[in-house]
Amino acid sequence: MEIQARAAQLRLALERYAHAYYVLDAPLIPDAQYDQLFVELQEIELQHPELAFADSPTQRIGGKPLESFTAVRHATPMLSIRTETDISDAGALAFDARVRRELALTDALVEYICELKFDGLAINLRYEQGLLMQASTRGDGESGEDVTQNIRTIRCIPLHLLDCTASVIEVRGEVYMARAAFEHYNDHQREAGLPALVNPRNAAAGGIRQLDPQLAAKRRLSFYAYGLGEVQGWDLPQTHSELLSSLATLGLPVCAERAVVQGAAGLVTFHQRIAGCRDSLGFDIDGVVYKVNSLELQRRLGFVSREPRWAVAHKFPAEEQLTVVRDIEIQVGRTGKLTPVAKLVPVFVGGTTVSNATLHNEDETRRKDVRINDTVIVRRAGDVIPEVVGVVLEKRPENAGEVFDLYQQLQGKCPVCSSAIVREQGSAHWRCTGGLFCPAQRIQALLHFAGRRAMDIDGLGDKLVMQLVEANIVATPADLYKLELAGVAALARMGEKSALNLLEAITHSKNTTLARFIYALGILNVGEATAKALAVAYGVLDKLMEADLASLQQVPDVGPIVAQSIVAFFAEPHNREVIAQLRASGITWLEDEPKPREKLPFSGKTFVLTGTLAALSRDQAKAALEALGAKVAGSVSKKTDYVVAGTEAGSKLEKARQLGVAVLDEPQFLKLLENL
Ligand code: IVH
Repeated sequence: MEIQARAAQLRLALERYAHAYYVLDAPLIPDAQYDQLFVELQEIELQHPELAFADSPTQRIGGKPLESFTAVRHATPMLSIRTETDISDAGALAFDARVRRELALTDALVEYICELKFDGLAINLRYEQGLLMQASTRGDGESGEDVTQNIRTIRCIPLHLLDCTASVIEVRGEVYMARAAFEHYNDHQREAGLPALVNPRNAAAGGIRQLDPQLAAKRRLSFYAYGLGEVQGWDLPQTHSELLSSLATLGLPVCAERAVVQGAAGLVTFHQRIAGCRDSLGFDIDGVVYKVNSLELQRRLGFVSREPRWAVAHKFPAEEQLTVVRDIEIQVGRTGKLTPVAKLVPVFVGGTTVSNATLHNEDETRRKDVRINDTVIVRRAGDVIPEVVGVVLEKRPENAGEVFDLYQQLQGKCPVCSSAIVREQGSAHWRCTGGLFCPAQRIQALLHFAGRRAMDIDGLGDKLVMQLVEANIVATPADLYKLELAGVAALARMGEKSALNLLEAITHSKNTTLARFIYALGILNVGEATAKALAVAYGVLDKLMEADLASLQQVPDVGPIVAQSIVAFFAEPHNREVIAQLRASGITWLEDEPKPREKLPFSGKTFVLTGTLAALSRDQAKAALEALGAKVAGSVSKKTDYVVAGTEAGSKLEKARQLGVAVLDEPQFLKLLENL
């Protein structure tokens, strides 16, 4: 084949694969194969520079750092939208009422398109004859800055459109940073001792404003299209929803989470649904956007003071707020880990009032330089514990506290039991060396043991555990099974009835599974998925207790650190004694001999995971499946046995449905694991 033809073939193939990967989230080939083709094209272009076209997939990160950005005048102004002030359902009703009034459609149902309100930076992409010619920021709406070099590094933005007949088409949308990209970037920054980015929104905006495109590329930004600017030589469809579908057909990323609805009730349903799954989206949003779907009606409604009358943003309660740090306390966790916690002036964030937020560890606190009396950004997203994101340095008062020094503050002693504290090499955390002598660790260990996913002792909450520990009735999990009615009933706020219920729950917990029991022991670094893998691999507790480092590392998901924690745990005579007592008190499970891999419950089965699961991370789900003998694949084919679909499952779910592959939602998946 002629070299020219081969280059063209490679470009086409690479584009198709990149579109499938970055836009459709449905990879067609393994990464390594993609890389191989990419390198082949790079080599051809190196030897034949005349074949290195600007829109080749190899030319995304091209140019040199700029001195400054040039101003761009927008062909049509980039407007913003009105924000509905009422964040309750009434906000949606008010918008619909206004639209109907202005259209004099008092009784009719108006059709709307509902979209997400992406939390990033608005961008205009100008394509001429299908080629990406210029990308600009919104600026003041009339003119922005030319950020083409940086936008070209965003893999999901096509450098040329598929089958585009328009002579000019400007696509508007939002550049954002996916949460995974944000975490990935920050992990690298921290490892390199560099400052972490505060939140994905600032990270996206900051990335686009980098003068060096290499730096913008490092942030792995993404883009969603939501509208148009100037258009020449292209017939507009009748509705905004059709317009979005056309943009997707041109190869642009359009968020699948959108819906055409009728009337105010449809708006409310969308708002509620998205509020419920907001935290499992892979990116941040700050609300939803409603738009009148008919472009004709949009024209009739027009604009008022530079805002369209046909669209509105309906926000969610903010997940970040400013407040003041009153004090920094240090809490002792289950494994003795010392965590600095900021005591805050109470603030309403993420839907509740927050007065404590984690500072994670000493280094983080120091890196963020959080001090008493500082004004800080507090974040609470979903069920994740609230955290201090960063300090607003401009607001630092005269009376701000000292630089945080955990060791000095504690004078080297655990704040609860006064045992020495240590920080092992490579660890981010100080630890109390008191073990179960430390009441704080004892309380946390007991709570973990009794937890729903461990021994599942109903009704044994933190207040009760604290009382039991403080009254010296319970010191180890084994003591729970020695409790007597009179002792429990005598505790403050405990009647005979509640005491009976508790004892019943404790008795009930005696029938369990080996995996739950291992998890309940609270071995350092052994989470639920690892406990399950260990239970499957060893089948019998005694075998696990005698396992050495080499044998443990044969288990999926167990590396040297985890293996070391397990060996150390079972080497401790005190732990062996507690286990013996627990078993003597009647805790039982069915013990199986370990199974060879081909006899594992999912041997020969292939799973594909897609979307977000609430109860466990993708890695945990994968480890659990592999421990049970399954193969976990990246894409759906006829050979797939099950697709596990979390929330926001996209094209893989669709493919599974097309191919008739069995689909499990999260509850079904968890049940399947539990019932093995
Ligand atoms: S439509 C004329 N749709 O929110 C209407 N905006 O002022 C133009 N945004 O600057 C905006 N998600 O950056 C629209 N689905 C969405 C959006 C969205 C986020 C941003 C956009 C705009 C701001 C609202």
